[in-house]
Amino acid sequence: MSARKRVGVLISGRGSNMTALIRAAAEADFPAEIVCVISDQPEAQGLAVAASSGIPTFVAPRAGHPNKAAHEGEIQRILDEAGVEIICLAGFMRILSADFTNRWVGRLINIHPSLLPLFPGLTTHARVIQQGMRIHGCTVHFVTAEMDAGPIIAQAAVPVLPTDTEGELAVRVLNMEHKIYPLALSMVASGKARMENNRTVYAHGLEIGWGANTSLMVPSSVEEIVNLEDLARRTP
Ligand code: GRF
Repeated sequence: MSARKRVGVLISGRGSNMTALIRAAAEADFPAEIVCVISDQPEAQGLAVAASSGIPTFVAPRAGHPNKAAHEGEIQRILDEAGVEIICLAGFMRILSADFTNRWVGRLINIHPSLLPLFPGLTTHARVIQQGMRIHGCTVHFVTAEMDAGPIIAQAAVPVLPTDTEGELAVRVLNMEHKIYPLALSMVASGKARMENNRTVYAHGLEIGWGANTSLMVPSSVEEIVNLEDLARRTP
C-alpha cells in the first residue's frame, strides 16, 4: 500500500468526530494517519482524548494574535512542522480565511450536521425540527472560502421523528457523522474522491454502496397506510 496520508485535525470542543477519525486510522489498512490535533480552545475536551491516543496536540488560541492572518499563520506553522497533507475540521468553530482555504483547496474537509446545502450555519437540528423536516442528516464536504458550501463528498440521512427533541435528533445525526467522516477521509486520502473544478470527482469503478434503486423514504410505510382506492371512495 502507498504511504498513509498525514492528517491534522482541527477542533474546538468535544472532539467526538476526531475520536471517530482516530479510531478508524488505528486500522492498519486505513489510508491516513492522524499526526496532530490542534484546538483553538485550551479547554477543548478532545485534546485529552487525542493525547491519550499518543497523538501530539497543540493549542492555538485566537487571543494573543493581532489578527486572523497571524492566528492562521500559527496554525499553518504547526501543520507544516507536522508534515500535514490533509486537514479535517471536526467541530472547529472558526471561519477560515480565503487565503487559508485556497492554500489547502482539495485537501481540507469538514463535517456539517445537516444535508447541505440545506441548513448551513449553527443550530441545524433546532431549525430542522422547526421546519417540520422528515429527513435530516450530515455532510462531509471539501472546504472552500464560502462557509458550508464546498463540494460534497459524502452524506448520510436519518429520519426526524415527530416526537424528537433537538437533543435526540442531534444524537441520531452524530452517530452517522461518526460513520461518514472516516469513510469520506479514506476516500480523499486514497484518491478515490478528489476536488476538480469545484466538484467532487469519484474514482472510476468506485464501489461505495450506492445504486440507482436506492431510496430513503420517511415515513417509509406510506403504501400500507394509504389505500388509494379507499381514499378515492372517501374523498368528495
Ligand atoms: C458536529 O456536530 C459537527 O458536525 C459540527 O460540530 C460538531 C462537533 O462535534 N461541525 P464533535 O466535537 O466532533 O463531538
